[in-house]
Amino acid sequence: MAQLEGKVAVVVGAASGIGAAIAALFSSEGAQVALADRSAAGVEATRARCIGPAKVSSHVVDVTDAAAVEAALAAAAEEHGGIDILVNSAGILEEVPVLEMTPEAWDRTIGVDLTGVFHTARYVAPHMIERGGGRIINVASQLGIKGGTGLAHYVAAKAGVIGLDKALALELAPHNILVNSIAPGPIETPLIDGLSEDWKRDKRAELPIGRFGTAEEVAPTALLLAASPSGDLYTGQTLGPNSGDVMP
Ligand code: NAI
Repeated sequence: MAQLEGKVAVVVGAASGIGAAIAALFSSEGAQVALADRSAAGVEATRARCIGPAKVSSHVVDVTDAAAVEAALAAAAEEHGGIDILVNSAGILEEVPVLEMTPEAWDRTIGVDLTGVFHTARYVAPHMIERGGGRIINVASQLGIKGGTGLAHYVAAKAGVIGLDKALALELAPHNILVNSIAPGPIETPLIDGLSEDWKRDKRAELPIGRFGTAEEVAPTALLLAASPSGDLYTGQTLGPNSGDVMP
């Protein structure tokens, strides 16, 4: 039986990479899926991959814009009759040594990778409360646990997401909302195209599995957290499909 039949999932960052793979998997598991991203063309490409039986909708939104996030979530709830699951996979990554990092570069990354996560969780929670509960799944990174060079803003944002999710898990548990992070290791998506070859070579050498993952290898972790009974006992947790890069 389809694991998400009858559920409505909003996937933010759905236009590419991990978010797109999660949206396609959730659709194939019977969920209605609302695809949200700042890239309209990317959302349409993902829509073509969502071949499940339930409804799919598209929402163009920039997660740094709180009012736009609130409006997009309200539109998704209206269109699908409510929201049960939020996945936030929107993210940016710019490699720059900390001694060359400008405040503008810092703000850009924190704005998308941390504040954007706050916006989506903040404005989805009332819809889930209306529904009697829900699941919030945020894509953090193993770098938020382990650290990494050339990415101080990104590392700080991802550590922030892991902390934020613990706080949300505690505050939202009385509303039957479970909140967890996924902290993948390096995954072959457009996000890491901008990393230097040196960075990637060094990282690959650190991995016990010896290779980067694929978005399709991360998506089942989101399904585990979203579905019942597989996700019922997880809240405030950080799950690590990370090629062994971190062993907490
Ligand atoms: P990706 O670049 O393929 O996808 C990221 C998506 O976020 C894109 O569709 C992009 O349009 C969207 N996005 C960026 N800024 C946005 C904004 N302001 N508003 C709305 N949408 C926005 O990257 P990937 O790899 O799929 O990344 C997904 C998440 O996974 C990110 O949070 C990333 O930090 C995280 N992650 C990725 C890893 C990797 O090695 N690829 C490793 C660990 C975590």
